[in-house]
Amino acid sequence: MNYISVAIDGPAGAGKSSVSKAVAKSLGYTYIDTGAMYRAAALFAIENGIDIKNEREKLINRLDEVKIDIRYTDEGQHVFLAGRDVSERIRKEDVSVGASDVAVIPEVREKLVELQRNMAEKDNVVMDGRDICSHVLPDAQVKVFLTASAEARAKRRYDQLCEKGMECDFEKIKADMEYRDKNDSERAVCPLRKAEDAVLVDTTDLTFEQSVEKIKELIKNVL
Ligand code: DC
Repeated sequence: MNYISVAIDGPAGAGKSSVSKAVAKSLGYTYIDTGAMYRAAALFAIENGIDIKNEREKLINRLDEVKIDIRYTDEGQHVFLAGRDVSERIRKEDVSVGASDVAVIPEVREKLVELQRNMAEKDNVVMDGRDICSHVLPDAQVKVFLTASAEARAKRRYDQLCEKGMECDFEKIKADMEYRDKNDSERAVCPLRKAEDAVLVDTTDLTFEQSVEKIKELIKNVL
């Protein structure tokens, strides 16, 4: 059986996960947040005292211990690291920056991409990330590059974190985002870039509902 894949790439804070989640829910597809996998790998390093930038080999040597498991409940995707639910912990800023740093390591990417492709083989999916259109699911039926201005993205991430009662210092969030944008776009392996065949959707001036509708429309057009 051939399943439908909707691939959504874009920078941090463009609204990828909330929009992808809503699109998946309304179509009855499975939402796969690949960023959460990089975040779980970063958390493994943080908890094991591995300095991601300077001790890359240490992390590579222990990759077998990075057991990431994605499970679904009525509330959506939960991420488990070696059997422990880390879904909340991985949203903190230290993990956000760490995720961008582990994501430059080819061995980490290889492991996580395999997991992502396996998941897309078993279901209709909406998968979001940075390299989904170009690398993970190059045959996806729908490809979108979702973006927004840097200011709008930082403001959204700020509102999101404040709402959850988490650390929300706007200037720090903006600086972290700029660091991640640069890191994600300039890395040698699978950098964040719009795939040639992806449709550009700029959400700077769109409401959440408009962004969801826009993507549903793109899906409707190809099915
Ligand atoms: O989408 P996010 O903010 O949760 O992603 C966290 C980091 O993981 C991001 O800075 C870059 C990396 N990432 C990646 O390199 N490739 C993906 N497919 C998803 C995320």
